[in-house]
Amino acid sequence: MQFSALTWLSYEAFLLLLVLFAGGALYRAYRLSRRFFSPLRHLQGPKPSSFLWGSIKEIVKDDSIVDDWVIQYGGTFRLQMLLGNYRLSTIDPRAMSHILSHTEIYPKPEHLRHVLGAIVGQGVLVAEGDDHKRQRRIMNPSFSPGQIREVTPVFFDTASQLRDVLNSILSKSPEAEGAEINMYGWFGRGTLDVIGQAGFGYRFNALYDETNPLYCAFRDMMQAIGDSDLLGVLLNRFRFLRWLPLQHNRMMHQSKATTYRIGMELVRAKKEAVLQEMQSQHLEKSKIVGRDILSSLIRANMSADLSPAHRMSDEEVLAQISTFIFAGHETTAAGLSWTLLSLAQNPAIQAKLRAEVSLVSEESPSMDDLNALPYLDMVVKESMRYHCPVRGTVRIATRPDTIPLSRPIVDRYGRMQDHVTVQAGDSVGIDSLAMNHAKEFWGDDALVFRPERWEENVEGANAIPGIYAHQMTFIGGPRACIGYRFSVIETKALLFTMIRSFEFSPVEGKEIGMKDVIVMRPLVKGEEKAGFQLPLRVRRVQRTA
Ligand code: HEM
Ligand SMILES: *[C@@H]1O[C@H](CO)[C@@H](O)[C@H](O)[C@H]1NC(C)=O
Repeated sequence: MQFSALTWLSYEAFLLLLVLFAGGALYRAYRLSRRFFSPLRHLQGPKPSSFLWGSIKEIVKDDSIVDDWVIQYGGTFRLQMLLGNYRLSTIDPRAMSHILSHTEIYPKPEHLRHVLGAIVGQGVLVAEGDDHKRQRRIMNPSFSPGQIREVTPVFFDTASQLRDVLNSILSKSPEAEGAEINMYGWFGRGTLDVIGQAGFGYRFNALYDETNPLYCAFRDMMQAIGDSDLLGVLLNRFRFLRWLPLQHNRMMHQSKATTYRIGMELVRAKKEAVLQEMQSQHLEKSKIVGRDILSSLIRANMSADLSPAHRMSDEEVLAQISTFIFAGHETTAAGLSWTLLSLAQNPAIQAKLRAEVSLVSEESPSMDDLNALPYLDMVVKESMRYHCPVRGTVRIATRPDTIPLSRPIVDRYGRMQDHVTVQAGDSVGIDSLAMNHAKEFWGDDALVFRPERWEENVEGANAIPGIYAHQMTFIGGPRACIGYRFSVIETKALLFTMIRSFEFSPVEGKEIGMKDVIVMRPLVKGEEKAGFQLPLRVRRVQRTA
């Protein structure tokens, strides 16, 4: 009796499980199939080369193909990505402005947030919705012009250290020949020192010593990401793969543990310092606590006019440290490297810039004096536009939406459309490079590096909804790069010092290539195994008395 009741029960349980399982599978299949009915299917776009990968393989091989498609399909088109998923790609300014400003409809994709979260934690780069708003509100003042003015001397400290390091390398080679120096490597170390010092009052000492544990942790992590390609796409997509004992995963775990340990110690120390500062109200404030962004952040978090619900936890503040390193170090290093390559390839532009910066008597001018140098400003704007170190990013539609267009497009059936419709789950590409390079905004010489365009008419680009110089390099809207001023002034300070002291020219026989690992990095063609590098010939500037 008892036995058969039990069998009957377990039979019922089995049936129930089966129904649940089949239901789950059906639901998943339904969800999967829905993507094929996205309204984006009516747009023009390239035929995917494979069902599984869509057009991903072509893009991974050479991402400038997206620029070609943008032109071919009239500025707004659709791509098919992994397993038939649709992606909207557009350079239409009105559409882009709509997407960037409606962050509640277009957050970052879950899998991207997950990867970023695994690297940097739940900081401002990863947070969405109210958490993001709250974090940005506390953090924005720490990146204001006033705050950047305060840290500008730090940029010059590192700049002159880098100058001394290069000088000592040059002292070992004949004056006329100069030396071949990997400027990407040195900029990487310099910008790390800057973000450490100006970002959170930490000395990496990376210009002198490559064994700093925090430095190594980050380098390993980026290497692990860079080594993977298609594996990386898979790891992003299918989380369980991250639990496999792959070299990649081990590296990430270790690096994260190191960042956590050092970061927490920093937060603790700063907090203590800020508390002390608050208790000794009447003493000289800035004597006690540094002027770095982290101190300013902790001060803001503890200020009396912030309601408790708006404050940041220690974990969140820790996440901002990793976020600054991740978002602010290699981006700026890459930007500087590409700028220097363009200057090496265009000796006349380099000479004109040198003439300007050499007239300044001070070695470390203030932010305002730096900003008053017109040609330096043009070179930096042009380089950011032309090279665009972060070529793009991506968002996901969380609900159906109608996106307005400034210029109508023709769909697959030849019908004119003045808007685009997306459904939940469609992804939306933010192709910054494509907008920065489009002739319709920048004129026929859009693909030429030409700083002088900035003293002429760049009105065509006025419609681009970017936060900096009508370009998309730092994107725009509520999620634009919080560090753009920091980066622009840092770039100016380092260029200022480099160009005053050295002449840069290309190394004969070495062709520079690039690889997109979140940031576009330089390499030498045929020497890919040697890792990312930008060798340039460096000579001391000959001072004529
Ligand atoms: C040339 C240098 C830089 C470039 C090209 C760059 C570019 C970008 C881009 C494109 C985004 C948007 C990413 C997305 O939403 O998918 C972004 C976000 C961000 N950047 Fe930068 N960045 C640079 C330097 C910096 C620096 C120096 C810092 C910090 C000191 C920084 C901190 C951040 C942060 C915190 C975010 C997240 C903002 C948010 O989501 O609210 N960046 N950056
Ligand atoms: C932010 O402020 C709250 C409330 O004063 C405090 O508990 C928290 O530790 C602070 N976080 C940091 C990192 O200062």
